[in-house]
Amino acid sequence: MKRLFSTSRSTVDSKEMKKFHLLADKWWDEEGEYSALHSMNDIRVPFIRDTLLSMRNHHELGNPLAGLKILDVGCGGGLLSEPLGRLGASVTGIDPLEDNIRTADWHKSFDPVLAKRVQYKSSSLEEVVEEAVETFDVIVASEVVEHVADLEMFIKCCYQVLKPEGSLFITTINKTQLSYVLGIWLAEKVIGIVPEGTHEWEKFIPPEELQHLLESSGFSVKAVNGMLYNPLTGAWSWRESRSLNYAVHAVKCGSPGEWDYTEPSAEPQHQEPPATTSTSL
Ligand SMILES: C[S@@+](CC[C@H](N)C(=O)[O-])C[C@H]1O[C@@H](n2cnc3c(N)ncnc32)[C@H](O)[C@@H]1O
Repeated sequence: MKRLFSTSRSTVDSKEMKKFHLLADKWWDEEGEYSALHSMNDIRVPFIRDTLLSMRNHHELGNPLAGLKILDVGCGGGLLSEPLGRLGASVTGIDPLEDNIRTADWHKSFDPVLAKRVQYKSSSLEEVVEEAVETFDVIVASEVVEHVADLEMFIKCCYQVLKPEGSLFITTINKTQLSYVLGIWLAEKVIGIVPEGTHEWEKFIPPEELQHLLESSGFSVKAVNGMLYNPLTGAWSWRESRSLNYAVHAVKCGSPGEWDYTEPSAEPQHQEPPATTSTSL
């Protein structure tokens, strides 16, 4: 398949890399900075597993995801790659930050079951496109898209590396006043369950915008489900409201020839934070 865009641009934001670099050895501290990602597995892993099972005619008992090649983009320390590997999938976890990959490899080494099922690589998604067009059955990008430099390019790269009818799972944060107040002000500045500076409200994405971008990039969006984190119990649950976190399942459908990549206009796409934002927060 012909590559449809120039790789001179990157989805990787160096400012974001600096933030994640400081926490590269904290991934597996269940009570630490990434505790909310650990508990998110309680709902995101069943969501991915059950969605994929509902699309297959048969599965191997005990290894329900056997035979599926999954790309975990922005895998960090491997918090999501590992459980998907234990479900039988062949998982490739990529992250632009080498220190994250070192931590992921180190932790994987404690479970011999994962040795052949999970592999990690320090790489950006656009580098994977160079060598792995239409290779993966599934892509997961959990809590990643709000950190990328160029979301349009990121989605188009996902399209390129997915096999036809492959599934894309994204979890991310909506851009609402509530997500500023709870996701940044409360979570980062008041109770500190997320390290300060982890998120920039300006980079949050409304589900309608993500859905539109996916559909104009050749995906069919199958589900957009609201998620809620309770900081008191440390538990996640599914909600009707998508005003905070949400999960998307989309399937690659269109022919790649239907769209073509064009460089975005030079005009900055800046959006002001919500009115509740004040510099004193
Ligand atoms: C909040 S962490 C999520 C880690 C993991 N997906 C999880 O849920 O446990 C975001 C991760 O995305 C990675 N990341 C940031 N920008 C990226 C990009 N453009 N492409 C791939 N990964 C990226 C970061 O290095 C970091 O490991």
